[in-house]
Amino acid sequence: MLQSVSDIRQIAVCGAGTMGAGIAQVSAAAGFPTLLFDVKPEAVSAGMDMIRKNLGKAVEKGKLKPEDSDATLQRLTPCHHIADCRADLIIEAIVEKVPVKVSLFRELAQHNPATTIFASNTSSLSVSAIAAEIPHPERVAGMHFFNPAHLMALVEIVSADQTGLAIAQLLYQLVQHMGKTPVHVKDAPGFIVNRVARHYYLEAMEIAQSGAADLQTIDRLLEAAGFRMGPFALMDLIGNDVNFAVTKSLYEAFHEAPRFKPGALQAALVEKGELGRKTGQGFYKY
Ligand code: NAI
Repeated sequence: MLQSVSDIRQIAVCGAGTMGAGIAQVSAAAGFPTLLFDVKPEAVSAGMDMIRKNLGKAVEKGKLKPEDSDATLQRLTPCHHIADCRADLIIEAIVEKVPVKVSLFRELAQHNPATTIFASNTSSLSVSAIAAEIPHPERVAGMHFFNPAHLMALVEIVSADQTGLAIAQLLYQLVQHMGKTPVHVKDAPGFIVNRVARHYYLEAMEIAQSGAADLQTIDRLLEAAGFRMGPFALMDLIGNDVNFAVTKSLYEAFHEAPRFKPGALQAALVEKGELGRKTGQGFYKY
């Protein structure tokens, strides 16, 4: 069993999208050889490009030495076959659906020893429901990074019913080692931040739909009030598909409580494939 952060010799990140690329960057920057895997080869290349861009920006701003940027890139290895995805810790950042996450972890379990820790970056799903389907469920936990992962400090460490105490503590220490701020949270729908934040998005959509203000005005006002990003700009950053899936998951988990009812405005965008920054069109055009 892995006892301390120094026992973690290799990390793998599955899913090279918005979150996976950022998490892989954080892992490599913290000194860990890191594999970046995705079912779509083009997603791995796009993820690597995104990391290069992030590091380049940090160097330009004088926040990172060029040699540290190079060293981070050298610790990253694109991975195209799940059988090659072998590591001491595997963090998944794939689609927000329990059966898909379960099937990924089950397959990874066949290629990895029982000591490999499986962490899910899920925003809202029950980590206990995922763990229940995985051999040696005590090694499964939630490790919920925020977007953009390379910049946001907070990481929610989610203990499922099955998660071993030592595993949760090790992940806590790892997040500190990555220079971020870990917080232990219980396995409840949306954990803390996403549950509270739902109303930021949903209420903003209600206001826009009622015609009381347009979305640009709502964003501008909330930013002026001190929020880093207005709700519509933030939904576009997160990805409307991902944000919508998270709301839907909370709505279902809370037995269709009206306060979590997914927004019709966002549903329409998802339907049209207008997912936000990643597709060039969402509430705004990019
Ligand atoms: P995304 O849509 O940008 O990327 C997901 C990636 O996973 C895609 O490249 C897709 O090809 C890949 N993928 C799908 N199925 C796969 C499989 N079986 N094996 C390997 N790769 C697979 O999604 P995003 O935004 O990165 O979200 C990923 C996870 O992170 C979700 O669980 C989401 O709830 C969570 N999350 C998202 C945040 C956000 O702001 N977007 C913030 C925090 C958590």
